[in-house]
Amino acid sequence: MFQFSFLEIILYLVVILALLILKPLFQILLMKIKYGKKMYMIYFPLLGRGRQFQNQIQKYNDLYHFEKMIPQENPEVEMIVSNSFMGLTHVFLKPDHIKFILQNQDLYKKATKVFLFGDKMFYKGLVFQEGDEWKLARNVLSKSFEFDQLRARIPLIKRLCEEKFQSVQENEPINIINISGNIVGEVITQSFFSQSFKDLNGKTFLSELVNVLVSIISQYREAPYRCISRAFIFGESDYPDWTLSSVEKQLLARLQNIKEILRVSIKERQQMQNKPADFLTAYINTIQQNPNLTEEHAIQQYIMLIFAGIDTTSHLFGACCYALSIHPEWQKKLREEIQKQYGTYEQLNNENINISSFITNFINECMRMYTPVPYFVEREVKQDHKVGEYFLKKNSQVQLCILPNNYDVKNFSDPFKFNPDRWNKQIIDPFIFLPFSTGKRNCIGQHMALMEVKCLLIYLLMNFEVSLSGEKQVWSMKFVYTIQDDKFIQLKRIAK
Ligand code: HEM
Repeated sequence: MFQFSFLEIILYLVVILALLILKPLFQILLMKIKYGKKMYMIYFPLLGRGRQFQNQIQKYNDLYHFEKMIPQENPEVEMIVSNSFMGLTHVFLKPDHIKFILQNQDLYKKATKVFLFGDKMFYKGLVFQEGDEWKLARNVLSKSFEFDQLRARIPLIKRLCEEKFQSVQENEPINIINISGNIVGEVITQSFFSQSFKDLNGKTFLSELVNVLVSIISQYREAPYRCISRAFIFGESDYPDWTLSSVEKQLLARLQNIKEILRVSIKERQQMQNKPADFLTAYINTIQQNPNLTEEHAIQQYIMLIFAGIDTTSHLFGACCYALSIHPEWQKKLREEIQKQYGTYEQLNNENINISSFITNFINECMRMYTPVPYFVEREVKQDHKVGEYFLKKNSQVQLCILPNNYDVKNFSDPFKFNPDRWNKQIIDPFIFLPFSTGKRNCIGQHMALMEVKCLLIYLLMNFEVSLSGEKQVWSMKFVYTIQDDKFIQLKRIAK
């Protein structure tokens, strides 16, 4: 049907090459001329920052070494601009710019080309919802995430800690992320469904769900060119079957299987006379009053909470364990504080969980140095506008990176030193320390996360000495910022 001469094919290839490779380079260079030293440019054909991230790991064992060093090595830099297959990405670093973007969320929408099968997994969940649909969902879920509601979960968390740590092998590398992730996932599942689900494919339901989510998300890393070119051609929509690899087809089938189990549970709940007071009942009541909401929303909302809640919290706990191991003096102090405040684990309850400011300071310091979410979810610009002096074009990408502020001597004296006591002094600017973001789209699960990490720390330090299991730790990105090897911790029971 189509007949092209050799010359025409060469010409088309040159045009495609120019669009994909040269256009972003020219755009970035023009911006560099305009903004000078305030802008840091990173360009690599098609892959953008991907290559720089690899270099940071190889050289410094830390994917985000560059970001941490910005205040020292490039203090004048306010914005990093790089290319990606979706266009130019602008990373804002300064509190004023971060404030503007978080306070003017209507100028942006969350970028949704990034996740394979996102529309089937969680794009109907809170993190990605927009406008009235988001408002409604946030309203329904907010009540269940208030601290007073969450406090009722403390007996469950305490029981799960005892159960999940029981079979830990002493002085052996253990997967602390997996143990804490199971606890967090169970709390989310019980809070949402008031029930657990049967094992699936030889694993617990939660392990299967997390495994499927992580495997789907890592397809971008494992087959970047296939995923990038497919998203480039088909955008966010359903990808035709023939573009899926056999691995992707299997993952999709497992995801559908999980969703079917959740769908059955929702159907059963809809028919129940006396519904338990949990997230699902709140959601079902809203669905009944709002024809635009469906069961699919409830399913994706649950998957979203698992996705947003498990890894973030368990890796924060992992970071706390890392800090305890490399600073034995703080481990000793924290254990003494916990013993002084609580005496025995039985005495920990929903009244006294927050009495120790020292535990809060310790967690804050871990979040400052090893925050699990250093980059917020990428946003797409909805209309041309300026952030400070920086012009953003419609459809370009915006990211916020909070690490440079955490390592800036202007905000935290001696920033590379681990010092929980610094948190005794109040930080003035609320846009400097943002592990959970701020404003109307802040983290809905922050009280849940902190409560869980506190319970976990109290249990851990009352029962175990914590140390590292290996010599070298590489800080990398596995959906959240974390140590690459999950088995980096070992425990030794404390004689009582
Ligand atoms: C240490 C643990 C956690 C950290 C560091 C964290 C961090 C964040 C951050 C930075 C955001 C804003 C993202 C953005 O605007 O791009 C966010 C949003 C969110 N988080 Fe968390 N999170 C944690 C735990 C949790 C938990 C336990 C849950 C739920 C069970 C949760 C659910 C959510 C949801 C649903 C949103 C989106 C809120 C909205 O857009 O209205 N997070 N989180």
